[in-house]
Amino acid sequence: MKYILTIPLLLAAAASVRAAFTWQNVKIGGGGGFVPGIVFHPKTKALPMTRSNSGQGVAYARTDIGGLYRLNSDDSWTAVTDSITTDAGWNKWGIDAVALDPSDPNKVYAAVGMYTNSWDPNNGAIIRSSDKGATWSTSSLSFKVGGNMPGRGMGERLAVDPQNSNILYFGARSGNGLWKSTDAGATWAKVSSFTAVGTYIPDASDTSGYNSDKIGLTWITFDSTSSPLNGATSRIFVGTADNTTASVYVSNDAGATWSPVAGQPVKYFPHKGKLQPTEKALYVTYADGAGPYDGTLGAVYRYDIAAGTWKDITPVSGSDLYFGFGGLGVDMQKPGTLVVASLNSWWPDAQLFRSTDSGTTWSKIWDWASYPTQNLYYSISTTKAPWISPFINADTKHLGWMIEALEIDPLDSDHWLYGTGLTLFGGHDLTKWDTVHNVTIQVLADGIEEMSVQDLQSAPSGPELLVAVGDDNGFIFKSSDVLGTSPSTYWQNPTYATSTSVDYAGNKPANVVRVGNAASASVQQIGISADGGATWNIGESNAGGPYGGIVAYSADADTVVWSTSSNGVLRSQYQSTFSAVASLPSGAVIASDKRKNGYFYGGSGATFYVSSDIGVTFSKGGALGSSTSIRDIAAHPTTAGEVWVSTDVGIFKSADFGATFTQVSTALKDTQQIALGLGSGSSWNVYAFGTGSAGNKLYASSDSGATWTDIQGSQGFGSISSCKLAGSANKADQVYVGTNGRGVFYASGAVAGGGSVTTTNKVSSTTSSTTSKVSSTTVSTSKVTSTTTSTTLKSTSTTLTTTARTSSAPTTKTSSAPSSTPTAVAQHWGQCGGIGWTGATLCASGYTCSKQNDYYWQCL
Ligand SMILES: *[C@@H]1O[C@H](CO)[C@@H](O)[C@H](O)[C@H]1NC(C)=O
Ligand SMILES: *[C@@H]1O[C@H](CO)[C@@H](O)[C@H](O)[C@H]1NC(C)=O
Repeated sequence: MKYILTIPLLLAAAASVRAAFTWQNVKIGGGGGFVPGIVFHPKTKALPMTRSNSGQGVAYARTDIGGLYRLNSDDSWTAVTDSITTDAGWNKWGIDAVALDPSDPNKVYAAVGMYTNSWDPNNGAIIRSSDKGATWSTSSLSFKVGGNMPGRGMGERLAVDPQNSNILYFGARSGNGLWKSTDAGATWAKVSSFTAVGTYIPDASDTSGYNSDKIGLTWITFDSTSSPLNGATSRIFVGTADNTTASVYVSNDAGATWSPVAGQPVKYFPHKGKLQPTEKALYVTYADGAGPYDGTLGAVYRYDIAAGTWKDITPVSGSDLYFGFGGLGVDMQKPGTLVVASLNSWWPDAQLFRSTDSGTTWSKIWDWASYPTQNLYYSISTTKAPWISPFINADTKHLGWMIEALEIDPLDSDHWLYGTGLTLFGGHDLTKWDTVHNVTIQVLADGIEEMSVQDLQSAPSGPELLVAVGDDNGFIFKSSDVLGTSPSTYWQNPTYATSTSVDYAGNKPANVVRVGNAASASVQQIGISADGGATWNIGESNAGGPYGGIVAYSADADTVVWSTSSNGVLRSQYQSTFSAVASLPSGAVIASDKRKNGYFYGGSGATFYVSSDIGVTFSKGGALGSSTSIRDIAAHPTTAGEVWVSTDVGIFKSADFGATFTQVSTALKDTQQIALGLGSGSSWNVYAFGTGSAGNKLYASSDSGATWTDIQGSQGFGSISSCKLAGSANKADQVYVGTNGRGVFYASGAVAGGGSVTTTNKVSSTTSSTTSKVSSTTVSTSKVTSTTTSTTLKSTSTTLTTTARTSSAPTTKTSSAPSSTPTAVAQHWGQCGGIGWTGATLCASGYTCSKQNDYYWQCL
């Protein structure tokens, strides 16, 4: 009877609940960005995956703009911080430190926040979970945390006392010193007896604040061999970024008093400090910069805790020492065995050193045979992310760069992982280094999706998904069937680092165009493809090297209009040399009509523009109500003349090639990207990010914008002003979201006209890499403040030098000034370029983008 009674209740629940879409990643695979930290649990191994147990996490990997991941027992990773990265909580995808509780493998802590300068207006927080990251509680700090700041690969700055689960320490940046919690991370207090603050400032003259902040404390290491004092570990080591007084401090009375460790080297900055308990030794890697891009000198030291002596065990010297040291893996099963990594050896490749005698002697993972030939004591398998193979083979660097994180599994001497600027490598035969001196390195980033997505397109009867990304150029997914398969290649020829925009020709959808974002004399920043993005050729060429911005392809693929970030708006027909389009303002948002060849649309400030002469001239189109800022334009994929425009006051639609517009609804305001996708039958859904009844989220409409439904649910996409959007043009009710640091998500679901949502069964067919549980943290959805003002766009004549592929750390900010939209403008003093920069490359009127260093260009 009970059973029968339950049925109507379930049905009633199903009917009334607005089921959110189930979001999962499109699998680009291989990470695609910097992995600054990895932490293994010291005692707990992964359980085998079963139907009821999705694998117990034994390790976590943190990223700088894409959140935290938990390792599964099958080498895959599960993202665990997507439930807290709402629009307002976007900065929680910046993970500056992660810590596990040695006494409880279910407990995980992280220090979150993106920037300590003005780019992130929010203070940082310590988040804590007692269910392996399924749900989180948040304790806000009274200062900022810099998950994407210099020195983010040092660590870990957060640690749990192995004697006492309630005690944690956090080493802060910005001069804020050492902080302690005695209630398992719920509340925090400053440790007043610890007075060192880590004074090193990479570049005091950087007025943006990005390089002019104190790096602060770099790691906390408990000595588990010390005798407990009042239930706490008595000996604690703390590393600081200081090369003038002392950098490694110790307490022998459970944190009551502190002093510099005697006899320490005071020359470089300690990046990692790891204890080998059986040896009673503290190993420390040092570099002469804070990382992650720098380092020209460094050292490795072993501190014998019992004897109180320091020993220089640096593996190389003289002219062989031209890098700092970052990654430090200490084997807990085999005392005396460790692996250290060059932080950055930009040529020919990174170097890894292994010792089995506590650093007295070392062997290398490669050496010179007869110059320039190398003996490689490894092979690299990219089965789990095939595109990594052509990517690293295009350069001499195979082992990687920015190696700050390197860990040997504490319970398995063969299992190791290391993070690079591109991916996460590792393997399961590390001890073969000591026998046959040859190890198999694998790409082990399966499930880590940390691309900064710049643009998405889905073409009717053409490529299902074109993904333009920061640092790794872009990828094609030919059909929905391959969304779960890591592509075999990234976009090549031309090969550049970042694609800012991609478009297809509506009537000839195998024809695709893409543009890149760096000035280059040698690599044209435009590629065209006639096979749906599988292979490319250098597109229309131009002396002077235009770059960046948005590209639009005419319906018949004869004409390209390019709203560059360098040279204003340009046009080329039949691959002729580009010429200026004087009638469209520099920095304009553009789109092509997908059916009627020769029609292009543009938006700048409050003004909508139309070209009916194949982009030669643009003239003013219909008015857009009280809008002052056009954010995005979406032309209907199959209906000529139907144009949708997203603005600061909401969405407008035209059915007459932009001659007149009607605001579709006032329910959705302050909208960002907008896209159309195939709906049920022959209708098309409209998708848009904006401010609606459920806050700043992704909404869908199946009734031409009359009503809008929240389809984002509890999935975090970070800042909605940084999100990219595409509706599937081939598979009904499927939609794609590109994030700034968490790759591409997709989900399916029919959107009912009245605003209710029914989910389809399609989305659960593959394992989701995201947790869909609702967070226990309450995060408010405050209003997006948009400061994009297209009217003040001004093209700069500054040329950026090519910095392709030397870094894979997306550094886009996503604060109140949306910067990753192609029209974003950096304000006076703001960053406008540099290695890895995917944000605004235009400066506000009156300022010029000027090179400060390879990593940093500024509006001056
Ligand atoms: C500290 O390190 C910085 C960066 O490498 C360097 O410029 C400075 O000279 C160093 N200071 C000392 C006292 O060695
Ligand atoms: C290590 O093994 C790989 C794969 O078998 C091989 O290509 C490579 O030549 C070996 N290295 C040396 C130095 O023998």
